[in-house]
Amino acid sequence: DVPVIDVPSLGVPVVDLSAAGLTDTPVLRLMELARRHGPAFVQRLHGHDTLFVSSLDLVTELADERRFTKAVGPALENVREFTGDGLFTAYNDEPNWARAHDILMPAFALGSMRTYHPVMLEVARRLIASWDRHAADGTPVDVPEDMTRMTLDTIGLAGFGFDFGSFRRDEPHPFVASMVRCLDWAMTRLSRDPGLDHRERDEAMRADADYLASVVDEVIAARTATGSTEQRDLLGLMLTATHPGDGTTLDLANIRNQVITFLIAGHETTSGTLAFALHNLVKHPAVLRQVQREVDELWGSRAELAPTFEDVGRLRYTRQVLNETLRLWPAAPGFGREARQATLLGGRIPVHAGQVIGVVIPMLHRDPAWGDNPELFDPARFAPEAEAARSPHAFKPFGTGERACIGRQFALHEATMLLGMLVHRYRLIDHTDYRLALKQSLTIKPNGFTLTLLPRTDRT
Ligand code: HEM
Repeated sequence: DVPVIDVPSLGVPVVDLSAAGLTDTPVLRLMELARRHGPAFVQRLHGHDTLFVSSLDLVTELADERRFTKAVGPALENVREFTGDGLFTAYNDEPNWARAHDILMPAFALGSMRTYHPVMLEVARRLIASWDRHAADGTPVDVPEDMTRMTLDTIGLAGFGFDFGSFRRDEPHPFVASMVRCLDWAMTRLSRDPGLDHRERDEAMRADADYLASVVDEVIAARTATGSTEQRDLLGLMLTATHPGDGTTLDLANIRNQVITFLIAGHETTSGTLAFALHNLVKHPAVLRQVQREVDELWGSRAELAPTFEDVGRLRYTRQVLNETLRLWPAAPGFGREARQATLLGGRIPVHAGQVIGVVIPMLHRDPAWGDNPELFDPARFAPEAEAARSPHAFKPFGTGERACIGRQFALHEATMLLGMLVHRYRLIDHTDYRLALKQSLTIKPNGFTLTLLPRTDRT
């Protein structure tokens, strides 16, 4: 139990967590605090106060770009230690943000998704070749680990022409372990006891960050060694494109920050989302059957699939399953907003200019706007009529405004295709009767989730 200090002048409950100790899953603690204290509360930690909000009305205000903007708050300040002024952690007014944003946007236009499709399919087939072996010998697959193999290889190849070869390794590429430790450092640093000595952890993080940077150098060297400046993938744009407005290019230090940013942001959350989606499917057989019906209608009983770009757009219900998954467990469970000027939030909460406000996305996604039973997994919530009837601010798994996720379509295309292919091919056996447990390293994943697989025999 954590003490609540009501400070009426702030207009919201203040919860002092300094004595409560660390938690492995800060998102679950924030969700619990929101349930107990309502949609706006201040978390006090070692003398530092942060306002957290989670209701549709307050988030709708925060989404107003005239009053609020992205905050590079304490968590992202920590991430900046290894991603610098890359797109995700750049300050709004840092010239490199707008420059990189404008230069890289074409790589995320619809036409570009078409060019990534064959690579996404190639990597999906690597995963399926590996899962076929498990299906044949009956051994379980580690779902989050294999989703990470798949998404890392995909962003590596599609964005950078670089092959991490994750399915040829017994263990995931060491990039993953170093990245997770860096993200974990960025998260746990938030609740550090200032009285203790943290030098050892800081040095370990530095070593990991140096390793990540060395992988980036390898990725860039592999491209420059080919002498090719033709490719218009992410790396090609970073290395050669000029800004459409002022003709400037990205400098080398910034390119390194962008590469590391995209290698992390481009795979970590998509893999968690896919793992949660598979969890939801095995726990909801009626939904699984509906996805099976959708993919069977599209692909029949063909064993060797060759989904086209257009096919993925036709997997509407599969996409609804992913959206509903992102509602309950948004893989990046928070984002920060910053007030442009002093203002009253909700007409009652005083906020000063520059103040950082955290959005607890999983609780926004359980706002009463979602109906009486928001904990219930129900992809029908994303049927077109239901979506049209709901505020766009009720669903923010990709953040908001001009700093929202640039890779949203990339993630959804990749994840929809893979989920469809897996459901088409396998019976998914929940052999441990898995109970959801989260692993958080800033982002969230289902911890220790394994499945066994059998070939589908019920297709007509
Ligand atoms: C930004 C979530 C996939 C690249 C963001 C933000 C969120 C998010 C919440 C905003 C953060 C903030 O406001 O501070 C997700 C989720 C994904 C996903 C849930 C998968 C399901 C991807 C992919 C890529 C990517 C596949 C790249 C290929 C980025 C970048 C930014 C960003 C570069 C920063 C954009 C900017 O500030 O200009 N993402 N993301 N993300 N994401 Fe994603």
